Amino acid sequence: MFSCQIACRIPAEEAAVRETQTEPDIAARSEEIDFPFHDLFISHTDKRGVIISGNEVFRRVSGFDWSELVGAPHRLIRHDDMPCGVFQLFWDRLKAGKGVGCYVKNKTKDNRSYWVYAYVTPIADGYVSTRQRPSSDLFEKVREIYAGLRRREREENLTPEASRDALLETLAQAGFANYEDFMACSAVRETTGRIRALGRTLPYEIREAANFATVLRPFRQGIDELERLFTSIHDAPTNIRILAAQLEQNSGPIGIISNNHTTLSQEVVASLADFRRETEAIFDAVNNAVFNVCLARILTEMVEKFETETECAPGLDFASEANILAGAAEVASRQARDHLFRMARQSRRFANATADMKRKASALDVTRIMCKIENARNPDPTGGLGQILDNLEKVQGRIAQRLSAMAKASRTITSDADLFARGRQV
Ligand SMILES: Cc1cc2nc3c(=O)[nH]c(=O)nc-3n(C[C@H](O)[C@H](O)[C@H](O)COP(=O)(O)O)c2cc1C
Repeated sequence: MFSCQIACRIPAEEAAVRETQTEPDIAARSEEIDFPFHDLFISHTDKRGVIISGNEVFRRVSGFDWSELVGAPHRLIRHDDMPCGVFQLFWDRLKAGKGVGCYVKNKTKDNRSYWVYAYVTPIADGYVSTRQRPSSDLFEKVREIYAGLRRREREENLTPEASRDALLETLAQAGFANYEDFMACSAVRETTGRIRALGRTLPYEIREAANFATVLRPFRQGIDELERLFTSIHDAPTNIRILAAQLEQNSGPIGIISNNHTTLSQEVVASLADFRRETEAIFDAVNNAVFNVCLARILTEMVEKFETETECAPGLDFASEANILAGAAEVASRQARDHLFRMARQSRRFANATADMKRKASALDVTRIMCKIENARNPDPTGGLGQILDNLEKVQGRIAQRLSAMAKASRTITSDADLFARGRQV
C-alpha cells in the first residue's frame, strides 16, 4: 500500500513544482493515503444516506469542506473501485434494521483514495458510521476479492443483486458461512490489529471475543466432515447383513449385531440434522456477540474522543450530536450483552448436543467391535467382512476424534460464556 500521512506537510520546493503543473498528476490521482490508527472517523446520515454531520477526521481525510459534505449523499466519496454488490448488501442489512461491518475504499476530494473498515448502525433518524484504519491479513484478501468482483461487474454486466450474491459466494469459498460470519471475523481482526498497533493491551471482552471466534472456526469443517463420514458408512450394516446371511444359515450373531448397527446408524443420521441446527445456532450467537462486542468498543471509544473534539459540522448542536453517538454506543453495548447471554444459553445446548452425538458414535463403535469379535471367532473365508470392519474402524476413529475435539471446545465455550456474558473476567 502506498503509505503517506494525510497530515504531512509538503516541502516548499515540491509545493512550487505542483503549482506549476497544469495537468493533474496521474500518480497522485491513484495514490492511496494512510491515516494513523488512533484516528477514528464518524459520519451521521439520514435514512437516505445524506450526510448530516461528521467529525474532524472525516472532513480532514476526505479533503472536502463542511459546506460540501453536509447535505450531500454519502456517495460523494464513493470510489469507482468499490463493487456495487457491497453497497447492495450494505443497504439490505441497514434497511432490515441490522448493523453492518465492511471494508470500503473511498475517494478524497483530490481523487486520491483511502481504505476504512466501517461499522454502520441504524439510529432513530438515520445511520451512524464509525470507521478505522484496516490492517489485517483479511483486509489484503478482501482487496483481491473486491477487485475480482468489480471486474466481473464490468465484464458480465452484473446487477447489484447478482454482484451481492457473487460476493457471498466468494466469501463462502473463502470459508465464511454467511456475511455475519465474515463480519464477526473481520471486526475482531481489525479491532485486535488496531489495539495492538496502538500498543494497548487487549481488553478482556475483545480477547474473549477473539477466542470464541477462533475456537469455533474449525467446527464448520467439523460438522461437514462428520456428515460425510457418517454418510460414507451408511451402507456398511446392509453389506454386513448380506455377508452374514451367506455365512450364518440361521440368523446368527453377526446378523443380529448388524441389525443393531443399522438402528443406531439411523438414529445418528436422524440426529445429525439437529446437531447441525445446534451448531448453526451457536455460530449465529457467537458471530453476533463478537461483532457487537467490537462495535460497542469502537463506539465507546468514539464517544470518549467526541468529548474532546473541537470541530463539528457548522450549524449543528455539538451536544446533541454527542448524545446521538452515546445513544448508539449504549444500544451496541446492550445488543452485545444480549447476544452474549444468548451465546451462553446456546453453548450449553450445543455442549449437550455434542455429548449426545458422542454417546451415539460410541455405541456404534461398540457394535463394530462386537462384529469384529464374532468375525474372529468364525472368520469370513472371503475376507469381505474383515474389509468392511477395517474401513468402519478407520471412519469411526476419525468420527471419535472430531467429536472429542468438538466436545472439548464446547466445554471451553460453556464454561467461559456465562462469565463473559456477565462481564466478569474469565
Ligand atoms: C452512514 C452511512 C455511511 C456511508 N459511508 C459510505 C462511505 O464511506 N463510502 C461510500 O462510498 N458509501 C458510503 N455509504 C453508502 C452510500 O450512501 C452509497 O450507497 C454508496 O456510495 C454507493 O452509491 P451508489 O449506490 O449510488 O452507487 C454510506 C451510507 C451510510 C448510510
